[in-house]
Amino acid sequence: MTTSDIIKQLFISYNSQDTTTFENAARAYIEQEKRKKHNIVVKDLEKALFSIPKNSFTTSEKRFKNTLPIPRDTEKGFPLLEIQTFDKDYNSLLVSNEVKEQLDEILKEFKDADILATYNLQYNKKILLCGKPGTGKTFSAQIVSSMLNIPLLYIRFDSIISSYLGETAGNLRKVFDFIEQGTWIVLFDEFDIIGKNRDDSHEHGEIKRVVNNFLQMLDNLKGDSLIFAATNHQNILDPAIWRRFDEVIYYDLPNVETRKHLFKEYLKPIKREKDINFDTLATLSKGLSPADIKMIAESATKIAIINAKEAVSMIDVETAVKKFLRREKVKNNRMEEKNE
Ligand SMILES: Nc1ncnc2c1ncn2[C@@H]1O[C@H](COP(=O)(O)OP(=O)(O)OP(=O)(O)O)[C@@H](O)[C@H]1O
Ligand SMILES: [Mg+2]
Repeated sequence: MTTSDIIKQLFISYNSQDTTTFENAARAYIEQEKRKKHNIVVKDLEKALFSIPKNSFTTSEKRFKNTLPIPRDTEKGFPLLEIQTFDKDYNSLLVSNEVKEQLDEILKEFKDADILATYNLQYNKKILLCGKPGTGKTFSAQIVSSMLNIPLLYIRFDSIISSYLGETAGNLRKVFDFIEQGTWIVLFDEFDIIGKNRDDSHEHGEIKRVVNNFLQMLDNLKGDSLIFAATNHQNILDPAIWRRFDEVIYYDLPNVETRKHLFKEYLKPIKREKDINFDTLATLSKGLSPADIKMIAESATKIAIINAKEAVSMIDVETAVKKFLRREKVKNNRMEEKNE
């Protein structure tokens, strides 16, 4: 999250007197200063933040009960999670109807959690997002966080377990304790580590233990948060893992119609010449992900801007597509060399 995003969030939350979002945005800013090692500033800001009289805004007790510090890795001291806030538009996520319906349902259940609870029913709380890279898994969690106006707790699963496997259980415990303090949209991102180490049997055994540990903590999790885990190695996740999730959402590569929409969406920031043919672009981009198309559209926009043109033209986009495909070819060749 950029500094201007944080400041915007501070303004919005001030305006709506939402202490929770205000505190989270303030914390996110302090975390940024921490990363820059501006220790004196950090101390000052923390003092300023926490000496705010608690009842000066309407406190939202349910969301943020106390102010435990962000948990850190015992060995190296890096933060184990990041609090992020977003203001994204639901319609900017272009996915199949099926995925959209699944997300709609999750949002509705979460909003009606209290009603469901009176019937002794639980909202779908643990969601597994899988599918190819760049198809919108991380983006979806950010959108859900925007829609519900609840901050995202972003946790890179692989960084928690990458360095010291021995420390992992402790790190996970700290993360789960933090989650249980409030109501969050939680994203365990890059859950892929489970699949990556499958060739190394010793390492794999360790990872398996860590994963079981994680799933157990997930089973026992208290509180009203909504938990996402994202991976692009869904083929390797075993049924025991799938079973633990209330819902699994699969993100496919976009079809021709969605590719057309993606080009329209991501070529928006600049005027477009009439010659842009979205059908042709959709055909040219077969097999590409939304993130790829976004990259192409941005690259075309840059081509137009640096050539001092007022609008982007078909040739700019075609040049960007060619540039992208050439890059992919180099990447794929390198991957083949590696596998030889
Ligand atoms: N379905 C989509 N609709 C619109 N934009 C998308 C979509 N998917 C991805 N994007 C764009 O591409 C960016 C990167 O996508 P995202 O990080 O969500 O991919 P991912 O599925 O999490 O990939 P990975 O498996 O590599 O983590 C997003 O921030 C968004 O701008
Ligand atoms: Mg992702």
